[in-house]
Amino acid sequence: MKDLLLIGIGPGDPRQVTVEAVEALRRASVFFVLDKGPGKGELVRMRKAILERYRPEGGYRLVQVADPRRDAEADDYPSAVHDWHRQRATLYARLIGEELGAKDIGAFLLWGEPGLYDSTLRMLDLVRERGVALRLQVIPGISSVQALAARHQIPLNRIGEPLTVLPGRRLAEQGQVDNVVVMLDGQCAFAALEDPALVIYWGAYLGTEDEVLIAGPLLAVKARILEMRERERARKGWIMDTYLLRREL
Ligand SMILES: C[S@@+](CC[C@H](N)C(=O)[O-])C[C@H]1O[C@@H](n2cnc3c(N)ncnc32)[C@H](O)[C@@H]1O
Repeated sequence: MKDLLLIGIGPGDPRQVTVEAVEALRRASVFFVLDKGPGKGELVRMRKAILERYRPEGGYRLVQVADPRRDAEADDYPSAVHDWHRQRATLYARLIGEELGAKDIGAFLLWGEPGLYDSTLRMLDLVRERGVALRLQVIPGISSVQALAARHQIPLNRIGEPLTVLPGRRLAEQGQVDNVVVMLDGQCAFAALEDPALVIYWGAYLGTEDEVLIAGPLLAVKARILEMRERERARKGWIMDTYLLRREL
């Protein structure tokens, strides 16, 4: 049986790592860190900074590996993601088998909240299907969605109203957009919306020293967000942004 901790580490600010997460960090003996390729080295460095802050005495092993890349050009998105997950599951099964001894506790430091747009739990199901017995513990984290609401000082929903969270590629198929949080939007789906009633609350690099916030009527601030997004992405080599779209009453 292999012991594994899936630890939510929040959206970038080491102070947004919960006490429960810190306690879990201190129990683990092996940390698995996935390197997501060119331009994403900073995300690895941020994880290492969390370890240095909360495990200053060391006494753990870091296993850093390159994450298999997803075929971003594939026409069939679900099947490309499925293939990618299988490759990652094969890698994880091998790492867990080879790197975790009987007395080790392994850990993944997962960005934000492990239950929100994070495939690790699904991948570990595939690892189990490969015959690896796992004992898991999941530690919740602060998601970028919570950080967005806190930074803009807004509730995510108005009284009694539902909240929708979706990836950018699904925004266009929403009927009336209202109280919609959009994540994973490399294509800037908001730019295609022309409804004058919409207000946007946008945030990038939330919780980090590069944090940027823009809010206002969508049609008035759209161009500024696009320009800021492009400039920051070029400067840093990567960007993570999230936004809430709401109709003015
Ligand atoms: C793979 S998902 C992971 C979400 C994560 N589990 C969470 O709870 O925030 C990555 C997406 O989360 C959002 N995101 C994550 N961290 C962010 C941050 N620091 N600032 C803004 N958006 C962020 C972006 O929409 C990004 O495309």
